[in-house]
Amino acid sequence: MRDRLNRLKLWACFLLLVTGIASAATPDGSAHVRYDAANRVFRLDAADITYAFGVNDRQELQTHYWGGRLQESDTLPAAKAGVGVASFEAPDNSTLQEFAGWGEGMYTEPAIKMTFPDGNRDLVLHYVSHTIRNDGFVVTLKDISREVFVELHYSLDAATGVLGRSAVIVNRTKAPLTIEQAAAASWNLPPGNDYRLRYLSGRWAAEWTLNEQKVAPGKTVLESRRGSTGHQNNPWFAIERGESRDEETGEVWFGALAWSGSWSISVEQDQLRQVRVTGGFNPFDFAYRLAPGEKLTTPVFYGGYSHDGVGGASRLLHRFEVSRILPLAPYPRPRPVVYNSWEATEFKVNEPGQEALAEKAASIGVERFVMDDGWFGQRKDDHAGLGDWYVNKDKFPNGLKPLIDKVHALGMDFGLWVEPEMVNPDSDLYRKHPDWVLNFAGRPRTELRNQLVLNLARSDVRDYVLGFLDDILKQNDIAFLKWDYNRNWAEPGWDAAATEDQKKVYVAYVENLYSILRELRARHPKVEIESCSGGGGRVDLGIMHFTDEIWTSDNTDPFDRLSMQDGFTYAYTPGIMMAWVTDSPNWVNKRTTSLEYRFLSSMQGSLGVGANLTTWTPEDFAVAKEMIADYKQVRETVQHGELYRLISPQGGSEYSVTESVSEDKRQAIVFAFLHSSQKGYPFPNVKLRGLDAERQYKLRPMRDAKASGAPQVASGAYWMSHGLDVVLRGDFQAAGFVLEDASR
Ligand code: GLA
Repeated sequence: MRDRLNRLKLWACFLLLVTGIASAATPDGSAHVRYDAANRVFRLDAADITYAFGVNDRQELQTHYWGGRLQESDTLPAAKAGVGVASFEAPDNSTLQEFAGWGEGMYTEPAIKMTFPDGNRDLVLHYVSHTIRNDGFVVTLKDISREVFVELHYSLDAATGVLGRSAVIVNRTKAPLTIEQAAAASWNLPPGNDYRLRYLSGRWAAEWTLNEQKVAPGKTVLESRRGSTGHQNNPWFAIERGESRDEETGEVWFGALAWSGSWSISVEQDQLRQVRVTGGFNPFDFAYRLAPGEKLTTPVFYGGYSHDGVGGASRLLHRFEVSRILPLAPYPRPRPVVYNSWEATEFKVNEPGQEALAEKAASIGVERFVMDDGWFGQRKDDHAGLGDWYVNKDKFPNGLKPLIDKVHALGMDFGLWVEPEMVNPDSDLYRKHPDWVLNFAGRPRTELRNQLVLNLARSDVRDYVLGFLDDILKQNDIAFLKWDYNRNWAEPGWDAAATEDQKKVYVAYVENLYSILRELRARHPKVEIESCSGGGGRVDLGIMHFTDEIWTSDNTDPFDRLSMQDGFTYAYTPGIMMAWVTDSPNWVNKRTTSLEYRFLSSMQGSLGVGANLTTWTPEDFAVAKEMIADYKQVRETVQHGELYRLISPQGGSEYSVTESVSEDKRQAIVFAFLHSSQKGYPFPNVKLRGLDAERQYKLRPMRDAKASGAPQVASGAYWMSHGLDVVLRGDFQAAGFVLEDASR
């Protein structure tokens, strides 16, 4: 990884005036950015991809190519606008533009739409100029008559070929204008009528459902109108070519939007069967007034291409997130094994109770003890307290210090739950500042979980939130914050803003959220943060810039988790996917499972424990201790290795198997799960992937896992071709295997 990243440091930028090609490249040529002035073609090459676009004969920026890497010697011709078909299909809507303004006769989804004070709404963007950066381009477009500029930013990740695209919209006219729609980018696919779309949907306690459908004429809109990312859809897509749904073969185009506010991604097949994916701020209820001289910057929409199926696509995304997105990228710390008090105590936290749990947690090898909700203000249940971030003296008469000291003495670090953006009407904060919440003046304020949303777009609210979090971190030796967010918006009014600026709340809120997180991390560089929103309601590449991990779901049922975790990994790295072992029967489905099964399910991600340890037997402690020790041996591989989804649990499958391979291919972990044996059939043979064919690997079953006829040591070729015959019978059975380089 380190070598690859060093190569990222693009250093050479040179102009070859004779050929008219301007370019920048990595020293070894693995990534290349160039502009061919003769044909007016922009081309980016990295890893296994080439992306190219050009200025066409109408002066529009037109997508040329997005796919497997071309040869250096291949020259792309000048772009040519679509010719249209009859008077109904003019070039305006048949040309695949990189970033189309809504104007002329455009009927497909535009990237940008605006209204000028004189009522004019026509925006036609033509190429003006560009600059070559060492990792991409900035291309400037301008309206044909008005001084409205759009800078398109393209950046390329040399290691994965993942492209980042965003736009900066600048008003250089003499009057304000209103942006009504602003995407980060449009991604255009090669012509074809055999595309399939995958996307993620869900709800609270049921996130990460993988959906699959044909890309058919018309439009599919994935979106959140909720003010934040939301559980309902996640801002990620993958589109594959062809009818075969093989995990590891075939072309896949994928993308993920880095934005934690209302967003939309539309996947559209037009009347000429052309497929466009346009994503950015959700245009619903959107209006952003730009005064003369002002700018609006869109989120970044990342996109990539794989010829190794969705499996290859997700491995590229995982690698990209770990090396480029996470706050400590390219070297995020491995996730510690956590204990979290929520399911054990809910709001009934107090000093002796938490200390008792901490002792037990430390005894099984937990490294971080996290106290969840209930420690502050007048918080007895979810009716009061949010907003009052002082320690509840009835529960912690001497503050948090005795508990934190105890946790440290037990060899763990300490983490704390907060929900900074919310307020209960029953709180001192709300009594003092009822005007601080999102609301429409004179209208009811919809409470959800008895709470309202603080309007973070206001600078006084932003300062207050940053201030109290900073104080908590200054006053207590805290290593970790679980940052929760337990409702979505209603009545999204910002009455302190000028009427025409009220809808800026959709952008300003999220920008201030990011600025608080950025500032806190700068002031407290050792503190790690988890993004939680009633589970996985705020997971996207935007929040991931500032948070080290994600609370995947409040649903901790280990069987439900298999398909949820599977869905999660299509878009996000397992390294941030927190998974706790909790009590059985689980609260969600009342399903009973063994402690081993629960551990193996949680070990697919970043392991935690959230059970009520005061009810555990000595045998439970022994199992937990052994499995946590095992997890520590393999966590680097699970969290940062290459993931292969060998048998998918989707669609009610009877089986599920995942494999993670370390970057140096010296270790692999296999987790196999059986839902319920039927008719005595054996578990299907599992062929491993991604190993070094010539290396000898030793098989180490975890606990009492069994594989029939498996040699103790065999080559990577053996494990990949002959495979592993896992022995599992019964209901909710699981087995884990470690393959280690035999020469170690
Ligand atoms: C949310 C979180 C839970 C827990 C509770 C506390 O639901 O997802 O893990 O922290 O809030 O109120």
